[in-house]
Amino acid sequence: MANLTSTFAGIKSPNPFWLASAPPTDKAYNVERAFRAGWGGVVWKTLGEEGPPVVNVNGPRYGAIWGGDRRLLGLNNIELITDRDLETNLREIKQIKRDWPDRAVVVSIMVPCEEESWKAILPRVEETGADGIELNFGCPHGMSERGMGSAVGQVPEYVEMVVRWCKQYSRMPVITKLTPNITDITRPARAALAGGTDAVSLINTINSITGVDLDIMAPTPTIDGMGTHGGYCGPAVRPIAMSMVSEIARDAETRGMAISGIGGISTWRDAAEFMALGCGNVQVCTAAMTYGFKIVEEMISGLSDWMDAKGYRSVDEFVGAAVPNVTDWQYLNLNYVTKARIDQDLCIKCGRCHIACEDTSHQAITREKDGVRHFEVMDDECVGCNLCVDVCPVEDCISMLPMAAGTKDPRTGRVVSDDYANWTTHPNNPSAKSVEPAE
Ligand SMILES: Cc1cc2nc3c(=O)[nH]c(=O)nc-3n(C[C@H](O)[C@H](O)[C@H](O)COP(=O)(O)O)c2cc1C
Ligand code: SF4
Ligand code: SF4
Repeated sequence: MANLTSTFAGIKSPNPFWLASAPPTDKAYNVERAFRAGWGGVVWKTLGEEGPPVVNVNGPRYGAIWGGDRRLLGLNNIELITDRDLETNLREIKQIKRDWPDRAVVVSIMVPCEEESWKAILPRVEETGADGIELNFGCPHGMSERGMGSAVGQVPEYVEMVVRWCKQYSRMPVITKLTPNITDITRPARAALAGGTDAVSLINTINSITGVDLDIMAPTPTIDGMGTHGGYCGPAVRPIAMSMVSEIARDAETRGMAISGIGGISTWRDAAEFMALGCGNVQVCTAAMTYGFKIVEEMISGLSDWMDAKGYRSVDEFVGAAVPNVTDWQYLNLNYVTKARIDQDLCIKCGRCHIACEDTSHQAITREKDGVRHFEVMDDECVGCNLCVDVCPVEDCISMLPMAAGTKDPRTGRVVSDDYANWTTHPNNPSAKSVEPAE
């Protein structure tokens, strides 16, 4: 059976599935039950500095986007960092680490961007025996207006400065949690590395307004007639998170840096995809909030079964395996030609592919044959865009088939070549030159 044990930034855990810093990790009661369910580690809900804790709203703090089946796709929240007393949190962290020595216990911290504040909290966290710290440079609401969270994460110089303090005043591994509310994610990642971080984690939530109540004309969630922007997470953000992860994994300066993948991970497959893009482990929040702690059982068995089937003995064998296959558009092979093919036995004749292709793509799907509904791809019009596959309600009903080298594409009249040719050398490219793809 595959070995799921993980060592991330020097921190050991029995599997690569950690709970992200959020309500699931807010207190010993939760963490205790999460560990019993099988989670490999937790990042404790973000701690603030000594003194009166922050105050949350007393009304709705969540908004959501659902699929047609009411399945939760995106979650929006306006919650702040922990609103529990620092001392209580530290005591519980210590107890949890003592009771669960084989699990990873990382503590998330957010204090003012001043050296004295970081210097004060670090020894207190270290004293709990926690395995490491995660710096919350990501929260985009409430705390950012107070000069913390994403207000720090959006300024690479601040990121580097705070990471440096943490490395200077503590011996614990430092994971820098990045905000996605930034144009170029490699900038804060490079800054964190320059400051000496042991790893980065991403993404934190995306700035969002999930809805407007049109009766009272206010954003939701609404607090006494008013609303505010919140942090977006859940399955809907996964593609954004994976793209950002891959940018860091590919960047010449940050390549090889330990990355903890976060953002919409709900299944073992989601986790494996993040890991293939370079994440040493993953963190989960929304899926646990939606389905409960026991989802980790399926994550563990699913990943293990997949690794067995693929012959991977340890997670390290596939972490980053997809990174060399992520490239820039200009290096994609323009000689790769595909055509859509409809499986007539599976087709339920709904017509969605026809409408999509007819109205918005390349008018390449028939609607009838001999007076009856019939949907078939016309190869002489099909550009191989894949839109029909994406709108078809029947899985695997439409497939994209690559054309064999040497055959003639009826759309262009050109013979398909098996030579690799990209935009950099294409005759239509005004700045065409002969270059090799970037590594
Ligand atoms: C209600 C809520 C509270 C959160 N609080 C924190 C927090 O205190 N610290 C932090 O670093 N991230 C916080 N997050 C962000 C999550 O840790 C995670 O980065 C984000 O939700 C994306 O993961 P997901 O799509 O699995 O939820 C919070 C998320 C939610 C939904
Ligand atoms: S792949 Fe694109 S062009 Fe071809 S049939 Fe489907 S939607 Fe039309
Ligand atoms: S969308 Fe799919 S099921 Fe519907 S007609 Fe097209 S191929 Fe058939």
